[in-house]
Amino acid sequence: MLRLHIIFIFIFTCRVGADTEEACPAFTGLSISSALTGTDLKVKLLLYTRQNQHCAETLSTVASNYLNVTKKSIFIVHGYRPTGSPPVWIQDIIKLLLSIEDVNIIIVDWNRGATTLIYHNAFRKTRKVAEFLKERIDRMLAEGASLDSIYLIGISLGAHISGFVGQMYNGRLGRITALDPAGPLFRGKPHSERLDPSDAQFVDVIHSDIDGLGYREALGHIDFYPNGGTDQPGCPQTIFSGSQYFKCDHQRSVFLFLSSLKKSCNITAYPCDSYRDYKNSKCTSCNIFQPLPCPVLGYYAYEWKSHLTQKDPPVTKAFFDTADKEPFCIYHYFVDVITWNQNMRRGSLTIKLTDQAGNTAKSRINHEAAVFQQHRQTILLTGFDQDLDEVQRMSLTFSTGTVVGPKYKLRILQMRLWSISNPERPALCRYDLVLMENVEIGFKPIPCESRPT
Ligand SMILES: *[C@@H]1O[C@H](CO)[C@@H](O)[C@H](O)[C@H]1NC(C)=O
Ligand SMILES: *[C@@H]1O[C@H](CO)[C@@H](O)[C@H](O)[C@H]1NC(C)=O
Repeated sequence: MLRLHIIFIFIFTCRVGADTEEACPAFTGLSISSALTGTDLKVKLLLYTRQNQHCAETLSTVASNYLNVTKKSIFIVHGYRPTGSPPVWIQDIIKLLLSIEDVNIIIVDWNRGATTLIYHNAFRKTRKVAEFLKERIDRMLAEGASLDSIYLIGISLGAHISGFVGQMYNGRLGRITALDPAGPLFRGKPHSERLDPSDAQFVDVIHSDIDGLGYREALGHIDFYPNGGTDQPGCPQTIFSGSQYFKCDHQRSVFLFLSSLKKSCNITAYPCDSYRDYKNSKCTSCNIFQPLPCPVLGYYAYEWKSHLTQKDPPVTKAFFDTADKEPFCIYHYFVDVITWNQNMRRGSLTIKLTDQAGNTAKSRINHEAAVFQQHRQTILLTGFDQDLDEVQRMSLTFSTGTVVGPKYKLRILQMRLWSISNPERPALCRYDLVLMENVEIGFKPIPCESRPT
């Protein structure tokens, strides 16, 4: 028995020895004690390509074995790290980006510098990180890279770092994607002290925590505001949920971007002045992008670049709701209703769809109380987190939102439901229906005689 132990210890020591020799460079892991004392800036660049997807190479002054500067290079710049732990999404972003394109992925590890309990100390290091990156990019340019092929993805503070780098090249960098750019200490600053559309040929931004750690105003050629940019569905609403309460909304921008790389569905965004207008179905026309549909969030947003950058000023805000988990897509529909109540009614409609296999989807976009007037058409925007193809049954619930008082009826002459995301699908209709307030009425819809336009 003792001998067995000795053998095990022997094997164990040998393995550890072998591993340290061949170990792959990894993102700096720090702990809360480093955050307490604060850290000095040290930037490390980790290169991943299709040739070394599972084992990074540290980019240094020595010639690289894997960097091919004729390919696109994507720099990933993280943000503030209050606990010192490596970002949870690093391996996913590497794997997904390499799965869709043969590129150089350079993880910009400035964890030493970003790790501190004092946000202001991390903030003060952002220029230095940008200067470090400028030097590295200069060297790549000298080796034959083109600025067009440089793409920076910056998260939180990293978004502004990317902006600073772009500024040093007078906006000739290919692209910057900003994932919930940091708000604190950047709010209200002039262009030169934060990210702005002049920092790259194309700047796309996802804002997911504008009332917390993120930045409220538009900073790019297109600014996506999922769920209005504030409370993300599925994120805890109270502080009792621990650290998730602080970072879930902020981090959602990264998970939305990752989801776009998986291509399982498109997260379509609707250009609009405000979230409220989007909710009230004022912004669902995508004609300005013809022949393209409305812009899609994430990696593929560059397909809309020529439309978006030609605008004057080149700023587009786009709003949309998402589901609470991956793949986050909501499938947008219009419902239009003609009623014959003599008196005007105000209220909202909840719609449930069921397909042949028994899958159900419930409408999720809560618009303001709609106004239903006799013989007038009321158009509402709605969305489902599942895209049911063969709808067999539908149900409607009318609600005025009041708990006390008389129960109202909504007398429907005609209702039509049609998909914005899949315009080739026939619209579904129902004629002559009376809804009792807060009572779910189910029926089998029929294809409409004509398609709404
Ligand atoms: C570098 O990438 C280019 C474009 O993908 C390719 O044609 C070339 O063969 C690569 N060079 C090396 C040394 O692998
Ligand atoms: C997503 O949008 C792109 C670009 O418009 C389109 O080519 C693709 O087919 C769409 N994918 C899905 C799953 O609808």
